[in-house]
Amino acid sequence: MKPDETLLELAKTAWNHAYVPYSKFHVGAALKAASGTNFSGANIENASYGLTRCAEQSAIQAMASQGERKFSEIVIYTEADDPATPCGACRQILYEFNPDAQVYLVNHHGVIKSYKVSDLLPDAFWL
Ligand code: THU
Repeated sequence: MKPDETLLELAKTAWNHAYVPYSKFHVGAALKAASGTNFSGANIENASYGLTRCAEQSAIQAMASQGERKFSEIVIYTEADDPATPCGACRQILYEFNPDAQVYLVNHHGVIKSYKVSDLLPDAFWL
């Protein structure tokens, strides 16, 4: 399966906007909300390292802050040789807004990996 081209472009633009003075590891994410509106986010680091926000979290926050509560797919773009996968915390955050959403991991070589959120986080915590 292939990611939406517009989402991929948005994820690459977000990748460029990543604020990563400490790790130098850029991550860009873009997602399509249920309404069809696209949202994106980049990783934003902080001198107090634990305050760093992952790109996926930035994109979800952008979406939810506009009142949207569901997304259908997310593209996560990195320039890692093996496309980077969402960290554990991001998996839980993605799960909150749709366990059935499709996750596309893409890198600069055009390698694409695709998973369902629930496959990345089996037996997730839920209330
Ligand atoms: N990072 C993300 O943006 N998403 C993830 O799922 C994993 C890690 C960021 C956080 C930090 O800025 C950099 O990658 C290195 O850990």
